[in-house]
Amino acid sequence: MANVTVIGAQWGDEGKGKIVDWLASRADAVVRFQGGHNAGHTLVVGEQVYKLSLLPSGIVTGTLSIIGNGVVLDPWHLKSEIAKLESQGVVINTSNFAIADNCPLILPLHRDLDGLREQAAGAGKIGTTGRGIGPAYEDKVGRRAIRVCDLAHLDSLDAQLDRLCAHHDALRAGFGQPPVDREALLTELREIAPFVLQYAEPSWKRLQTVRKAGARILFEGAQGVLLDVDHGTYPFVTSSNTVSGTAASGSGLGPNATGFVLGIVKAYTTRVGSGPFPTELEDETGQRLGERGHEFGTVTGRKRRCGWFDAVLVRQSCAISGVTGIALTKLDVLDGFDKVRICTGYRLGGKVLDYFPSHAADQAGVEPIYEEMDGWNGTTAGARSWADLPAQAIKYIQRVQELIETPVALVSTSPEREDTILVRDPFVD
Ligand code: IMP
Repeated sequence: MANVTVIGAQWGDEGKGKIVDWLASRADAVVRFQGGHNAGHTLVVGEQVYKLSLLPSGIVTGTLSIIGNGVVLDPWHLKSEIAKLESQGVVINTSNFAIADNCPLILPLHRDLDGLREQAAGAGKIGTTGRGIGPAYEDKVGRRAIRVCDLAHLDSLDAQLDRLCAHHDALRAGFGQPPVDREALLTELREIAPFVLQYAEPSWKRLQTVRKAGARILFEGAQGVLLDVDHGTYPFVTSSNTVSGTAASGSGLGPNATGFVLGIVKAYTTRVGSGPFPTELEDETGQRLGERGHEFGTVTGRKRRCGWFDAVLVRQSCAISGVTGIALTKLDVLDGFDKVRICTGYRLGGKVLDYFPSHAADQAGVEPIYEEMDGWNGTTAGARSWADLPAQAIKYIQRVQELIETPVALVSTSPEREDTILVRDPFVD
């Protein structure tokens, strides 16, 4: 039995929630290793819909769920997300939930800064989720973060708070804002500390223990490779590494623990927020994809931009993240199209490229080269075997896997857990 690492291979919103939920029901532990409550994972289990932003998806099935050190944690959001899930009947306690005690906190001052910067950027804004993710990661690498373990030592936090506030006060002054209200911050931290600390532990140790006992671990990525701070469409990215390699550093287990890398890939392309998007369709077809796919952000409710499948981008994501196999999602959104298109290369300044260039101007300037295929009649929705799929839909899947040079391990055909075609079980080596 292998461990499995799930990552998004596009710009997030590939439908990771359902796949992770399905895998989590067979895992012994689920770990979030990067990002924060900017993620939006929707799980549909029977009649119940669970919306998770921060908690690992395993929590819904009662599987041991761990927020790893690579995550940035908003303690107040944590409390409200737990309360919401509890009101839906989910049981959360210290035997099925833990938080890495070396996890950095997202504070109100991070949310402030996220908002101030976006506002000041005008048309050049990133289009962040406004949740303070970027500023919290900046403080982590700037070595001035307040971490979960610090909540147990609030009486000796003076020097740390001095450094943090000095930094933020200077930035806030630049935006014409008053300094951080240090006393109010300390009071808020004192209030929330016992709630967070009940779950805090050196979670790498618990993971080591379950690993030694032969447990199956699921590493749950958030966002997507194209939002990775190194490999994505910089600067229109999130502030963490979203690639599979982060599963090791963001959980405290070594790279040999991460196992089968499952890349989640939507059968077309979407993006929320600003930034280049070569196959974007700003016409009726794009509108149709958005309506059929219910393409609105889980976290912010923003309308997602939509376009054809971009095989160049996904091939690159799969290579960079060492994807073993993909889970193809939302194929049914393409049902009923006369023709479907796949981007197979780009034109840039008279040259043909088989990769996505690094410079922002080149990324914005590439023109997609398309291959057109016949669409299919009939529906793929709810299919549970290849025999349930129209022949032309199978051809589309085969062409996708050929172009991205990565095999299909799963095809998801509706939000329901059972509506899945399993080609290769990621948990079985
Ligand atoms: P941030 O992560 O809030 O800093 O936002 C940076 C960029 O990442 C923006 O374009 C967001 O729309 C995008 N983003 C962040 N989280 C997600 C996600 O879970 N799904 C899709 N896009 C996301």
